Amino acid sequence: MAAAGSGSFQFGRIASKRLMMLVALLLVSCCLGHGFGDEDHVEVEGIGSSCMESERRALLAIKSDMYDPDNWFSSWTGKDCCGWRGVACDNTTGHVTNLDLRYPDTYNKWVISYATETMGGSKVNPSLQELKHLKYLDLSMNNFSGAPVPIMIASLVHLEYLNLSYAMFDGLIPPQLGNLSNLHYLDLQAWDYDLLHVDDLDWLSGIPSLKYLDMSSVNLSKATNWFYVINSIPALEVLRLRDADLPYVPSPSPTFNLTAIATLDLSGNSNDPSATLSWLSNATSLENLLLSGCGSLTIESLQVALGALGNLKELDLSFNSLEGEIREILNNVSSRGLKHLDLSFNQLSGDIPQGSLGDLEYLDLSWNFNVIVHILASLGNLTNLRHLGLSGNSISGEIPQTVGNFVRLEYLDLSTNGIIGKIPRSIGQPHQLGNNSNMDRKKPLVVESSSSEVKLSIWYHPNEYSGSHFSPGIGSFFQQSNWQSTIISRKFQGHG
Ligand SMILES: *[C@@H]1O[C@H](CO)[C@@H](O)[C@H](O)[C@H]1NC(C)=O
Ligand SMILES: *[C@@H]1O[C@H](CO)[C@@H](O)[C@H](O)[C@H]1NC(C)=O
Ligand SMILES: *[C@@H]1O[C@H](CO)[C@@H](O)[C@H](O)[C@H]1NC(C)=O
Ligand SMILES: *[C@@H]1O[C@H](CO)[C@@H](O)[C@H](O)[C@H]1NC(C)=O
Ligand SMILES: *[C@@H]1O[C@H](CO)[C@@H](O)[C@H](O)[C@H]1NC(C)=O
Ligand SMILES: *[C@@H]1O[C@H](CO)[C@@H](O)[C@H](O)[C@H]1NC(C)=O
Ligand SMILES: *[C@@H]1O[C@H](CO)[C@@H](O)[C@H](O)[C@H]1NC(C)=O
Ligand SMILES: *[C@@H]1O[C@H](CO)[C@@H](O)[C@H](O)[C@H]1NC(C)=O
Ligand SMILES: *[C@@H]1O[C@H](CO)[C@@H](O)[C@H](O)[C@H]1NC(C)=O
Ligand SMILES: *[C@@H]1O[C@H](CO)[C@@H](O)[C@H](O)[C@H]1NC(C)=O
Repeated sequence: MAAAGSGSFQFGRIASKRLMMLVALLLVSCCLGHGFGDEDHVEVEGIGSSCMESERRALLAIKSDMYDPDNWFSSWTGKDCCGWRGVACDNTTGHVTNLDLRYPDTYNKWVISYATETMGGSKVNPSLQELKHLKYLDLSMNNFSGAPVPIMIASLVHLEYLNLSYAMFDGLIPPQLGNLSNLHYLDLQAWDYDLLHVDDLDWLSGIPSLKYLDMSSVNLSKATNWFYVINSIPALEVLRLRDADLPYVPSPSPTFNLTAIATLDLSGNSNDPSATLSWLSNATSLENLLLSGCGSLTIESLQVALGALGNLKELDLSFNSLEGEIREILNNVSSRGLKHLDLSFNQLSGDIPQGSLGDLEYLDLSWNFNVIVHILASLGNLTNLRHLGLSGNSISGEIPQTVGNFVRLEYLDLSTNGIIGKIPRSIGQPHQLGNNSNMDRKKPLVVESSSSEVKLSIWYHPNEYSGSHFSPGIGSFFQQSNWQSTIISRKFQGHG
């Protein structure tokens, strides 16, 4: 790599300067002042440790502006800043190359807006720009209280990894970030209530080495040519532009150029994605395709693309109001290799065709209302299945004994269907009663479980359900509500 060459060049240069400075110091040590931030000078002090004094001082200045209730910075003492938590230096040059100040994820970031306790405000201290040799910078999850993204970050031209996600920055993302031509990873995803936006994305074309780009929840509505800019970054492997208010892409789409793309998440963008989908039909490298909540998707527009995506492992089409038969989608999805299929919250109907779901580990068909029953019996062959969500459909009858064939199942939700009869012995004995306010809202329970345990959540009507495997008392616990729920769990022996 080019960096290694310049590193050893620098090493030679610095070593000879070191020698000269050492001589100078010996001669006039008393006269040399401190505090000028002169790296070569302070490096003499640093002999024996690997930390440059000027960079150490810059780090301490940065620390002084960071909110730190948990004493995360307690290791930031002494001379050797290279050993401080979150800091790493180049072995040969001694320069600080990595700074990881990600705020420890002690809260659930998805409910932060409801969090009562404050995260406290941090600031990005201008001394950051003195860490000129940084390759890795992570400021994610801090609370920068709506400050603009600091333009000085654009001067850290050696950066290969920059993560400013969920950091409560607001305003324009500075196009100067396009100067960071060595970046491989750029993560700018925002909280959905942040106000980050761009005027265009042209600056991204200054970063041709970009492999990973996340600008989810950044308002990209003004980036009318976003699609063409993105398509000209041939190294891209992961692209996440969820909830980004992406502008409409006119047809015809450009020739597909992203030959390395593996993950594409355009969920939550409601402009007509048909041009994007026809462009995708050459994305044969694609493994994860997430198009949840894309208002105007239709089965017809999907079929073009899906048929060609032979390497797909994950497909999320939830919350799309897709109308039609399940098989119209499944016929076009390669059954080999697909592990994760989420079709929940659509208006799909019909049955799952036999043998169409070979390797699935995750299947969610919840809340389509019209998905019917026969799948249950045939799904018994899906021995890799870990998650099966079927709530809110028209599945009637009894739970088939073959449910016991799901040897890896961790989550099964059959709530709000027309299920009757006994819970098969193959599932096991009732074990644990849910105690969850969700029950009042007729929602499926969220069930956590270990990989060797199956848990079953069923909403059932007491008049329809005659289960005899419940332990005494459970029935009366929910007698007052119309719907009842229970979680049944058993340990599978020898699996997991
Ligand atoms: C630098 O040191 C670390 C651990 O001390 C080592 O894993 C790494 O390989 C070294 N890198 C170089 C370029 O010598
Ligand atoms: C972020 O910091 C500001 C300023 O300290 C504070 O008012 C705000 O409540 C903090 N936000 C969160 C979500 O903690
Ligand atoms: C950036 O930080 C966030 C939050 O800390 C993390 O979830 C995400 O994976 C990071 N992005 C990259 C590319 O590592
Ligand atoms: C970005 O690069 C341009 C030249 O390409 C330069 O004029 C500008 O000052 C740089 N901006 C920053 C913030 O480094
Ligand atoms: C994005 O910004 C535009 C103004 O530039 C605004 O009209 C639009 O509502 C914003 N989108 C979202 C989702 O906030
Ligand atoms: C495809 O990428 C190359 C750079 O590798 C670029 O020169 C070309 O213009 C791109 N084509 C399109 C249609 O964006
Ligand atoms: C897909 O690839 C074929 C053959 O390489 C090419 O003719 C076609 O134009 C491409 N379509 C798109 C949308 O890139
Ligand atoms: C997609 O499915 C439709 C209908 O099931 C079929 O006619 C078409 O050939 C399929 N397309 C591809 C590319 O597999
Ligand atoms: C399940 O496997 C049995 C034999 O083990 C086979 O007869 C049946 O057709 C299979 N069903 C499906 C849906 O693949
Ligand atoms: C149910 O939850 C309440 C309050 O969250 C708790 O006091 C009670 O002990 C729980 N009951 C069971 C059976 O877990």
